[in-house]
Amino acid sequence: MGNKLLCLGLLTALLGYYIYSPIPEDVAQPGTVMLLSALFRAQGHVSEVAELLGLASYMETLRLFTVFTLVPPTSDENVTVTDTELSNVPVRLYLPRRAPGGLRRAVLFFHGGGWCLDDAGVHDYDHLTRRISNELDAVVVSVNYRLAPPHRFPAQFEDVYSVTKFFLQRQVLAQYGVDPARVCVAGDSAGGNLAAAVAQQLPQDPEVKAKLKAQVLIYPALQALDLKLPSYLDNAEKPLLSRTLMVRFWSEYFSAEPTLREAMASNAHIPAEAGPLLQFVNWSRWLPADVRGAHRYSSPAAGGTEPGRGSPGLLDPRAAPLLGSEARLRGLPPAFVLTCQHDVLRDDGLMYAARLRAAGVPVTHHHATDAFHGAMTFLDGPFELRLAHRLLSTTLGWLRDNL
Ligand SMILES: *[C@@H]1O[C@H](CO)[C@@H](O)[C@H](O)[C@H]1NC(C)=O
Ligand SMILES: *[C@@H]1O[C@H](CO)[C@@H](O)[C@H](O)[C@H]1NC(C)=O
Repeated sequence: MGNKLLCLGLLTALLGYYIYSPIPEDVAQPGTVMLLSALFRAQGHVSEVAELLGLASYMETLRLFTVFTLVPPTSDENVTVTDTELSNVPVRLYLPRRAPGGLRRAVLFFHGGGWCLDDAGVHDYDHLTRRISNELDAVVVSVNYRLAPPHRFPAQFEDVYSVTKFFLQRQVLAQYGVDPARVCVAGDSAGGNLAAAVAQQLPQDPEVKAKLKAQVLIYPALQALDLKLPSYLDNAEKPLLSRTLMVRFWSEYFSAEPTLREAMASNAHIPAEAGPLLQFVNWSRWLPADVRGAHRYSSPAAGGTEPGRGSPGLLDPRAAPLLGSEARLRGLPPAFVLTCQHDVLRDDGLMYAARLRAAGVPVTHHHATDAFHGAMTFLDGPFELRLAHRLLSTTLGWLRDNL
């Protein structure tokens, strides 16, 4: 009896030790966030073990955890939901049911998941896009672009780009009852990266006549040249995205080469050709003083490393929109940029907001000081966060006024 109690006590202590992680003081519902963070870490550890045992690659296992939460396309009283294809790319389509008062808005939505994970049909994204469709009375096209591995840059970009280009055709917009002057792109995390990249590419395309009304970038990833920005250093172990995992996502997006990930982890992945682009990730120039804090700027060394040179995506604005030239940024549609204080990607968003403004693009920048990466997706279920509702309602408020 005594032994059993002792074992139980030890197990509880071990479990408690595993679950415990420091949560930033100003983050509300710390117990829920801690559990969520432990769940994500546990999935990461299981995936590492599966890879060590040779059962499946790290990303394959991690992806399985998201596949478990897939939900079928289910219509409700307000929105008709279907899985279909546009331009040969699978999409989940949300069409409002109430009688239209005229032509509708449309949102092309790109989900997050580091270009490797998730799906328009996982519970959290299905819930989010359904809310957007219902509350904005908007047609929402949520794109199931190809994922890494096996698919790498530019496959993800090409899929979302080709759906956007297809949808923007006059006869397609007319078929869905969409107002050509009220279409936007939106996405979170890796999806925010894709949304920014699509917004930049469309004006370069002589075949595209329509213009986007807006771009919505929710804690986007925007560059992989400097992976030691203050936000990467300050938030390396914050929920729900660690620096290690973000490095893994970037390297998987670009290459199957494990040396790229190792080089990225130590910020030694920058090829000599990157030299002229380093000005765009110079955070001593683009970050406000209060964010730079006590950090001292030193430019990442452009050393001409092999792994970096083998990954042209690294320098391509379609993969890293922050590297777009000033000429490419000029005239882009008004942007809503959401950043979170406790996020490795915080400074990507801050610098892009600054660069867009410098190029004359109207920017609404919402900085959530008490938020962390991924927070907006927890809108219901056991991990429901009041923070998620607040971030969504801020975003929808902007869209109501600007789309
Ligand atoms: C349908 O829309 C109404 C009004 O916005 C809302 O109260 C209701 O909860 C919605 N139903 C669903 C299933 O989302
Ligand atoms: C970075 O920006 C600062 C401030 O504008 C400037 O003094 C410095 O020369 C820049 N460094 C590089 C490597 O671009």
